[in-house]
Amino acid sequence: MAIKVRHPGEGFAAEVVGADPGRAEDFEAIHRAFLDHGVILIRDHPLSPDAQLHFSRRFGPLMGRRPSTPDKVLMPGEPEIVVLSNRVVNGENVGITDAGRYWHSDLCFEEEPNLGTIVHAIEVPPTGGDTLFADLEQACRTLPVTIKKRIEGKRAAHTFRKHYLEVMAEGSPRPPLTPKQLAALKETYHPIIRTHPETGRKTLFINPGHTTHIEDMDEAASRDLLHELFEHCLQPDFIYRHQWRVGDTVIWDNRRVMHNAEPYDMERYTRHMHRTCIHGDRPF
Ligand code: SIN
Repeated sequence: MAIKVRHPGEGFAAEVVGADPGRAEDFEAIHRAFLDHGVILIRDHPLSPDAQLHFSRRFGPLMGRRPSTPDKVLMPGEPEIVVLSNRVVNGENVGITDAGRYWHSDLCFEEEPNLGTIVHAIEVPPTGGDTLFADLEQACRTLPVTIKKRIEGKRAAHTFRKHYLEVMAEGSPRPPLTPKQLAALKETYHPIIRTHPETGRKTLFINPGHTTHIEDMDEAASRDLLHELFEHCLQPDFIYRHQWRVGDTVIWDNRRVMHNAEPYDMERYTRHMHRTCIHGDRPF
């Protein structure tokens, strides 16, 4: 079957039809679509943990254990798979129940952030639990010149600590980080406008969840400018909403998009996903 790329609905994301993640010869077309669109979807292809790991490694080395991820939510025996789930087995949550419910880019607070994330859906709720993606390449391209001038050459600070402390204070059911993990959470600076290392195109590398301030700018000015930037980035025209189906694999480019997972009724429904993260390089 010939591989086709089409838009699943409104927005910039694309569905890659006819591609088999398990087939080496399909990878070039999948990778091309990933670079062209930033978020891609492969439907109706159940993936075993092994098959997901194999497919993910075609993009690059995986990220495995991180200071920001409790060990308890890693798949037993496969620490490169993070379980996103509200399933309870033997009285214990098997995954992170409330992962990603805010605008962020995965692991942007690391020196070498995540290149891309691959999430495979095993069980999904009939309503709720969508994931929204914002295209920061489009946001960068359409940024008013006056704002662009104020951020050119500037860096912003990223940290996981702020979000983590906030969700724990709100009573998140996720397993806590160890004191050693907490101590390892550093603040990292990255350029606000980054160049995508594979496409050469410019994109904004900031998000409301982890970007706390702009380097060498006073606190109020930095807060106001970030607010203006986030408002620009989150215009409805730049957003793709993904409504999950069982067997979906969504692959997103964290160098280009930020995302936000919406809540769902966790008392009534189960949402169970496997996530792999690919190692990226230092933003420039
Ligand atoms: C995440 O931010 O990794 C979670 C995404 C999702 O559950 O849709």
